[in-house]
Amino acid sequence: MSQLSPRLAGLAAWVPLGSRLLDVGTDHALLPIALVQSGRVVSAVASDIARGPVERARDNVRQAGLEAQIAVRQGPGLSTVSAGEVDVIVIAGMGGGTAAGILEEAPDIARCATRLLLQPMNGAARLRRCLLDLGFETVEEDMVEEGARSYQLMAVEPRPKPGGERPRASWLTLAFGPVNLRRTGDERVRRAVWEEREHMSGIVDRLAAAPEGSEAARRRVELEARIHEADAWLHLGAQREEGGR
Ligand SMILES: C[S@@+](CC[C@H](N)C(=O)[O-])C[C@H]1O[C@@H](n2cnc3c(N)ncnc32)[C@H](O)[C@@H]1O
Repeated sequence: MSQLSPRLAGLAAWVPLGSRLLDVGTDHALLPIALVQSGRVVSAVASDIARGPVERARDNVRQAGLEAQIAVRQGPGLSTVSAGEVDVIVIAGMGGGTAAGILEEAPDIARCATRLLLQPMNGAARLRRCLLDLGFETVEEDMVEEGARSYQLMAVEPRPKPGGERPRASWLTLAFGPVNLRRTGDERVRRAVWEEREHMSGIVDRLAAAPEGSEAARRRVELEARIHEADAWLHLGAQREEGGR
């Protein structure tokens, strides 16, 4: 699977052997083709909402001689499969809000899968909030760098849905993930938290003169609380590092 980008290779490594895969927003169908060729999945559905990507995917699947194992389908989100038709659902390379919308539109199909593999381009907090609400637990997380950008990867699995109150999670956990945040010494996670902290700090500076009681002042207070949370986590990692020396 050496032809895959670090992003897609990272997700491919979390696909259990013998799975039936759905790749939502497949574009060139690179991931399903690599996973079938390597023998990791037994079959795949490569689906996309748009005609151009579907045609590209069809051409690539035909050229690879994999039409018997990979079905290429056009349609939005999870509408291209029925409940229980696939074990692993991949949603990669789109915004976290779009990915969340896809899952919220068809929660029964999503929860029939044994594992979801996700790589949001942005909006990771929105996506994690939705996953918590739909009853998914994070089992793997990572950050990969491609060019100048860092991308979050996550693997989640359905758990019995808790009744009662909405599951709680802090802003930091939603933004960076519970598994990533356990790695307090991981330079990639520390850099991502630091960069977000600096970004928020710039906004707080610009909102310094906001009149008391205004929407801008409320936003400033919210961002100050987030900066405080980020600082506490960054400080914890630094302390552990010193303790380990
Ligand atoms: C940037 S490409 C990502 C390709 C590949 N998954 C990757 O990560 O490299 C995003 C693809 O998602 C498709 N897409 C966007 N919204 C979608 C939706 N709601 N359902 C299915 N496909 C969608 C687009 O047509 C596009 O081909």
